[in-house]
Amino acid sequence: MSDVKLIRAEKVNKKFKQGPSMVHAVKDVDFEMSPGEKVYLYGPSGAGKSTLLDILGNLTRASSGKIFFRDKDVCKMSDKKRSLMRNLCFGFVFQFYYLLPELTVLENVMLPSRIIGKNTRGIKDKAMGLLKRVKMDHRIKHKPLELSGGEAQRVSIARALINSPEILFCDEPTGNLDSAMASSIYEIVNDISREEKMSLLIVTHHELDKTYYDTKYLMKDGVLNRQ
Ligand SMILES: Nc1ncnc2c1ncn2[C@@H]1O[C@H](COP(=O)(O)OP(=O)(O)OP(=O)(O)O)[C@@H](O)[C@H]1O
Ligand SMILES: [Mg+2]
Repeated sequence: MSDVKLIRAEKVNKKFKQGPSMVHAVKDVDFEMSPGEKVYLYGPSGAGKSTLLDILGNLTRASSGKIFFRDKDVCKMSDKKRSLMRNLCFGFVFQFYYLLPELTVLENVMLPSRIIGKNTRGIKDKAMGLLKRVKMDHRIKHKPLELSGGEAQRVSIARALINSPEILFCDEPTGNLDSAMASSIYEIVNDISREEKMSLLIVTHHELDKTYYDTKYLMKDGVLNRQ
C-alpha cells in the first residue's frame, strides 16, 4: 500500500443541537485509511458511526478537526469543490438504497455520471457492465419499486460504482436483508474492491467475516478505537 493516505482525520468532533441540549456524537477522532484498504467499523446504536462516515465522506462538515483526502485539506475547500470531489472519487451505499422511483434501473445507475456531464454512450455501456457484475442486467427496464431489497441494493452498488470511485462508503448496506443476501452483497463489494483496488469503509452492527476487511474499529459513545 502507498504511503500517501487516502483519508486522514485529526481530532474530529461533531456536536448536534437537540432542543436545549447538545449531543457530542463524534469525540476527538483520529483516523487514517490507505488506498485499497478495507475498514470495518462497528458499535452500538447511537455510537456516532453514521455521523463519522458522513464526515469522512464529505456529506457533512465536522464541528472541529481536520480531514484530508490524499493529503488535501478538505475543510479548506469550497462546498462546490467538495461535492465535485465526492462525485468523482467517492461512492455510497446506504441501508435504504435511495433509488429514484421514477427512473428505471439502468437510468438510476447512469445518473451519477450524467450529473458530472459524461458522454451518454460510454456511460450506458459501463452501466450495463456494472449491472451484469451485480447480476441485475436482466432487470434494466424495471422501476425500483418492482425490485426486492437485495435486488435494489445490488442496483445501488452499481450506481455507486459508475464513476469508478477510489472509496466505497457502505452504511449498514445489509441492514434490511436476510443473511444469505447479506453475504452475497459483501462478496460482490469485496470482489470489486480487490479487482479495482478500491478502498472500503463498511459500517454495520453485524459481525463481518474477516475475509471482508483489513482493519476493524469499534466506536462507542463517539470515541473510535482500533481493535
Ligand atoms: N442530524 C442530527 N441532529 C441531531 N442529532 C443527531 C443528528 N444525527 C445524529 N444525531 C445524534 O448523534 C448521535 C450519533 O448518531 P449516529 O446516527 O451517528 O449513530 P450510529 O452509530 O450510526 O447509530 P445506528 O447504529 O443506530 O445507525 C445520536 O445520539 C444521534 O441522536
Ligand atoms: Mg447509523
